[in-house]
Amino acid sequence: MRGSSLVPLAGTFAVLAAAMTLAAGPAAAQSGKLKVGFMLPFTGTYAALGSAIENGFRLHLDEVGGKLGGREVEFVKLDDESDPAKATDNINRLIKRDNVDVVVGTVHSGVAAAMARVAKQTGTLLIVPNAGAGVVTGALCAPNIFRSSFSNWQTGYATGEAMAKRGPKRAVTITWKYAAGDEMVGGFKEAFTKSGGQVLKDLNLPFPNVEFQALLTEIASLRPDAVFAFFAGGGAVKFVKDYAAAGLKSIPLYGTGFLTDGTLDAQGDAAQGVLTALHYADALDTPRDNAFRLAYAKAYKLQPDVYAVQGYDAAQMLAIGLKATGGDAKKVADFGAALRKARIDSPRGAFTLSSAHNPVQDLYLREVVGRINKPVGIASKALADPATGCQM
Ligand code: BEZ
Repeated sequence: MRGSSLVPLAGTFAVLAAAMTLAAGPAAAQSGKLKVGFMLPFTGTYAALGSAIENGFRLHLDEVGGKLGGREVEFVKLDDESDPAKATDNINRLIKRDNVDVVVGTVHSGVAAAMARVAKQTGTLLIVPNAGAGVVTGALCAPNIFRSSFSNWQTGYATGEAMAKRGPKRAVTITWKYAAGDEMVGGFKEAFTKSGGQVLKDLNLPFPNVEFQALLTEIASLRPDAVFAFFAGGGAVKFVKDYAAAGLKSIPLYGTGFLTDGTLDAQGDAAQGVLTALHYADALDTPRDNAFRLAYAKAYKLQPDVYAVQGYDAAQMLAIGLKATGGDAKKVADFGAALRKARIDSPRGAFTLSSAHNPVQDLYLREVVGRINKPVGIASKALADPATGCQM
């Protein structure tokens, strides 16, 4: 019996030793490289958005000497193709095969919702640097999920308030039919109808379809006072050009700022006078934004846009959170506590995070003048997303 009890004892030591190794694991990992998974679109209509997010993130990382929470950073890049059907497998690959410490992504709301589901189940830190899906900081909110960008509702609501104030009474909406479009139109209608506006018709087409002609003909026949639109990236370029080419410039075009952000060189004269609301604008002319724009232009020979700012701020948020945890991406409670009390010194203007981890921020009304989105006022001050369904 004694002899045989030695076996379990030896087994116990083995288990203990393994447990000690595991306990030492995170500490050891903290001095090793921090693995950041970039799950972003690098192809398709949102490719330029993914690339701007990556540029912005890397710019801040360079500014802080290439380290986050005292750790060198290693990147694993994955092209999510803005395809929700592949999203769960893609994020699982980053977490389980590549063993990333943090995931930064993505642009498309449908992909982000799938990512948030997996992040919530696994407890992996997720920073969303664009996608505005309400569920990310709503029903799927979690201590380990943060957003450096906006909620779709915020941008639509601010645009609705701005349009109502400027006079149009009868509007038509047009967008891609998926969560981002639906939620931005929802926010727009909430604000616009509250102020007495009327929506004549909601038009849409599947993402990322760009055959706008039949819908533009319908707008012409409905003769609204104004149009509200959400498109982004390559689709926004084509929509704004097609709108002008269809002879609709006499009907004021409004949109969430994605309609004209990062797209103006390609849209050219067709974009002149388009009015949008967004949490960033060109020519904010603050010392913080001027320094950011100069550094970005120097590093990439490109002008930054809202996506670059959101990538930059995702890196700032990681830096703040990981500083508080000594570089340990598993100490989610300490990470979150640091961020919830931080004022993030963004080029857009400083912002705080709501208890659901979404930015509480000013949204600018912007008008396209020449090749810039010129700020012409504040559409909504310190606007917070309602975080419907969030229980943390
Ligand atoms: C979204 O899918 O949430 C989105 C994509 C591009 C720009 C803005 C929002």
